[in-house]
Amino acid sequence: MLEQLKGLRAQALEELNKVGNPRELELWRVRYLGKKSNLTQILRSLAALPLEERREVGAQANEIKKALESSLEEKGRLLQESILTSPRESQRVDITLPGRALPTGRLHPTTQILKEICDIFKNMGFQVIEGPDVEWDYYNFEALNIPQHHPARDMFATFWIDTGMGEKARLLRTHSSPMQIRLMEKERPPIRAIVPGRVYRYEATDATHESMFYQVEGLAVDKGITLADLKGTLFDFCRCLFGEERRVRFRCDYFPFVEPGVEVAISCLACNGTGCRLCGHSGWIEILGAGMVHPDVLTRVDINPKLYSGFAFGMGVERIAMLRYGIDDIRLFYSNDLRFLRQF
Ligand code: DAH
Repeated sequence: MLEQLKGLRAQALEELNKVGNPRELELWRVRYLGKKSNLTQILRSLAALPLEERREVGAQANEIKKALESSLEEKGRLLQESILTSPRESQRVDITLPGRALPTGRLHPTTQILKEICDIFKNMGFQVIEGPDVEWDYYNFEALNIPQHHPARDMFATFWIDTGMGEKARLLRTHSSPMQIRLMEKERPPIRAIVPGRVYRYEATDATHESMFYQVEGLAVDKGITLADLKGTLFDFCRCLFGEERRVRFRCDYFPFVEPGVEVAISCLACNGTGCRLCGHSGWIEILGAGMVHPDVLTRVDINPKLYSGFAFGMGVERIAMLRYGIDDIRLFYSNDLRFLRQF
């Protein structure tokens, strides 16, 4: 029996050496230390042995049991350690794989164009300022030469703000021009500024009309400013934004707060001036309104029109973005369809 025990120990330890994972280790435990293992059988049969032999075999068997148990514990610890320090094949990191691209956000097409427009004017020395969306009738209309019953008010379908007093005094600005007045009230010439911001129109929406959109207003006031300065500035601007090869056209137009007033158009981006659907077969696309600041407007803000003159302009940002990106429906801008927005 002592011989058998010796063989058992040698065999158990040899097999333990080959164990490579926790599952095999458990099988090993059952085999050599479990209830049905040879060792347990021997320990159980001790009672039947003569005293002398029982002592010797018992001591030997218990010693082996302890040795196997501590080897088991040690092996378990080693296995655990190797799992933690050397991950299996499937968990290894392949450092040669290309990285996974993280989804990043992007700027709204309006914001992108707005930024471009502002950068162009900043480079020409204009400062960028902003004004309130909720305006007084005075700034939006009155001070811009559009009094109460002036027919030009029809150009602007207005969202009035109910003050509860029955009078129409506050509104959502219908254009960015009111900032011309606020600026000239506060600052003395020379003034050179642009004003980006939201404007509102109480209108049914369709492919070319939205009730909220962006405009950029421009204003320059100083001694000796002429229509030639306005032309130079806007020609440069159009070519910066739409390309060197663009032709730019000035035509007479009417806006109550400028005299003379002009409408500015660029040669069509699609047909280059030969006429197509985009330009209504005219070869030209109107992109902004402008003019020389009306003497009455200057007088109202205490700037002497005999000493000073200025030019002003205003443009719709979405319209410009539509031309640049070939977008055919303005309603796409603010319907938050990611399939649309992800393209920019
Ligand atoms: N405010 C005008 C509009 O919304 C655009 C405009 C025209 C602005 C002529 C100007 C200007 O500053 O001089 O239709």
